[in-house]
Amino acid sequence: MLNNKPLSWQTISLHWLTGLMFIGVFVLGLYMADLPRGPEKFELIGIHKSLGALILLVAIARIAWRLKEGAISPASPVAPWQDKLAKSVHGILMLATLLMPLSGIAMSVGGGRGVDIFGWQLIGQGDKIAWLQELGGAIHGFSVNIIIAVFVLHVVGALKHQVVDKDNTISRMLGRMS
Ligand code: HEM
Ligand code: HEM
Repeated sequence: MLNNKPLSWQTISLHWLTGLMFIGVFVLGLYMADLPRGPEKFELIGIHKSLGALILLVAIARIAWRLKEGAISPASPVAPWQDKLAKSVHGILMLATLLMPLSGIAMSVGGGRGVDIFGWQLIGQGDKIAWLQELGGAIHGFSVNIIIAVFVLHVVGALKHQVVDKDNTISRMLGRMS
């Protein structure tokens, strides 16, 4: 039996807005980290930081919406372990959209640098706080492989539902129901 209840437009738009921005900032992070020090790296770090901090704002709106609306129900009946796995994956991805910007901000603030979103200052420059910089850097770097693994699980799971179970899981998240 299929669950034909469409997802709300808020759920759909917040999912793709956060998801696509997250993927972009993540890939940019991996690319710029390998660049040698220089103007290009400096400029890309600025864009990475601005977009990353913007994600924090969208992620907070999204989590507030999720708390208000409650968890989405599966598009078709699934075994309890699958439901638990999907919900855990969603929880970890949601947490990542908070933890990555927060740890990045901690890294910057700890390094004595401020944080701005394309010139709109959120936090001004200050003194170095070594432990905050180290903690932020450790969380930011440590999370990378975990996020990649969980993201792959998320996309493979969604594709399995859409293609093998044919239960419209991805269509539903694209706002298309049949
Ligand atoms: C190409 C990439 C992506 C695809 C194809 C995709 C697909 C989907 C689909 C089909 C659902 C609905 C699952 C269901 O009905 O049970 C979903 C939910 C979800 N996705 Fe993604 N997703 C992608 C990227 C991301 C990214 C990058 C994030 C976060 C960093 C993310 C976080 C979530 C969360 C938290 C949910 C739970 C529902 C909600 O609260 O909005 N997704 N995704
Ligand atoms: C959702 C938001 C974010 C994501 C997904 C993200 C992701 C990443 C990734 C994947 C890397 C490369 C790590 C590595 O290969 O070692 C990175 C590096 C970095 N990120 Fe972020 N980041 C985000 C937000 C931020 C924010 C808000 C800031 C600062 C305000 C920030 C500052 C940095 C810095 C300074 C680096 C190191 C660059 C270098 O020294 O090579 N990030 N980030």
